[in-house]
Amino acid sequence: MKTVLVTGGGGLIGQAIVDRHLAAGDDVYVYDNRANSFNDYSALRGTDISGIGSLEELVTYRKFDIVSHQAAFVGVGESQYNVLKYVDNNVTFTAKLLQAFVSNKGYMPELFMLAGSMGPYGEGPYRCSQHGIFYPSREGVAGPACPVCAQPMMPQAIDESCELHPKSVYGFTKKAQEDLLRVFSQTYRMRAISLRYFSVYGLNSNPNNPFTGVLSVIANKIINSPQVSMYEDGEQTRDLICADDVGAAHFAATRMRQDFLFEAFNIGTERSRSLRAISDQMIARLMPGKPLAFSGEYRFGDIKHSQAICRKFREMTGWEPKVTLDEAIEQYCRFVREHWSRFSTAEDTSSMEHMRLKEKGLI
Ligand SMILES: NC(=O)c1ccc[n+]([C@@H]2O[C@H](COP(=O)([O-])OP(=O)(O)OC[C@H]3O[C@@H](n4cnc5c(N)ncnc54)[C@H](O)[C@@H]3O)[C@@H](O)[C@H]2O)c1
Ligand SMILES: [Zn+2]
Repeated sequence: MKTVLVTGGGGLIGQAIVDRHLAAGDDVYVYDNRANSFNDYSALRGTDISGIGSLEELVTYRKFDIVSHQAAFVGVGESQYNVLKYVDNNVTFTAKLLQAFVSNKGYMPELFMLAGSMGPYGEGPYRCSQHGIFYPSREGVAGPACPVCAQPMMPQAIDESCELHPKSVYGFTKKAQEDLLRVFSQTYRMRAISLRYFSVYGLNSNPNNPFTGVLSVIANKIINSPQVSMYEDGEQTRDLICADDVGAAHFAATRMRQDFLFEAFNIGTERSRSLRAISDQMIARLMPGKPLAFSGEYRFGDIKHSQAICRKFREMTGWEPKVTLDEAIEQYCRFVREHWSRFSTAEDTSSMEHMRLKEKGLI
């Protein structure tokens, strides 16, 4: 049995982590300031010690074997116009948490787990059939072209050896958290792992919540908008992983044999699907015939494609994601049908975000 502290433990991923560790008999404590107004904190699992006071008091409340740092602001779009808010809460707060261990001088945790992210990879690697691999940027809907011959390039799946080129302020903050943790881990000989989650969704997410993944955003649009309108051309792809599988990955990471001080691992399904295909599948199940439109608009900071390679983590832990996207869509659509009235009265938070980004010239 391990004693585990989960910061941000009331969130989508935090609660999945809490559930998995509780199921294994760990003693789990949650610290969460309830900053995500879309989350339902009423049925929070784990021992809630959010009112503990300072971070120094938090880290000395118990001798935690494992500290799992999930707390962060998670809106990619919002981070682009609330720069200080994101850097402060994601980077400075991580520094404060680590500082609390230094100031305390009593102990360092046996293992520090970080919620890393695919964000720092940015667009990821692309291959030109003639000129090889590049890490391009793009400034519009079209996929990146080869900087040598200007021909279209093929997106490549991403492993941990890929270069990091964050495209959003949020992506920058996730990279900064990881860089800081790596240095801290080496300085204090504290074992640490960053799990770089790809796009995580919940299977019973609040329909208002624009952060709990693409399934809740699409369901909201199907039910509440005259047409399902999405950015770009619908060919953007995402590697979507269920929060429960992330919880299982977290647990597996805490139990693996660790011959390293600090390591980062991708956590995804190694499959990706286009937003057009996901929207089509959901429309067919929820409201057949509903028009689907792609605006051709490009949000600066959005990436075109993303697909993880998780071989390193699978080989070290035996972990495999269990929930397929088809099963998830089926199950999520069932959930939507059962909670139709909640969805039909949900705020259209993505349209509000759209207006804000437009005002700032970020679309
Ligand atoms: N959801 C995804 O697709 C995804 C992908 C990659 C990485 N991540 C990372 O996973 C972690 C969890 O994200 P999530 O999707 O569960 O989001 P979430 O908003 O549901 O959970 C984050 C929780 O952290 C809490 N929090 C934020 N700042 C805090 C602070 N200063 N002190 C205490 N609590 C604080 C919030 O109240 C929230 O409940 C984040 O670090 C996020 O960057 C998420
Ligand atoms: Zn080329």
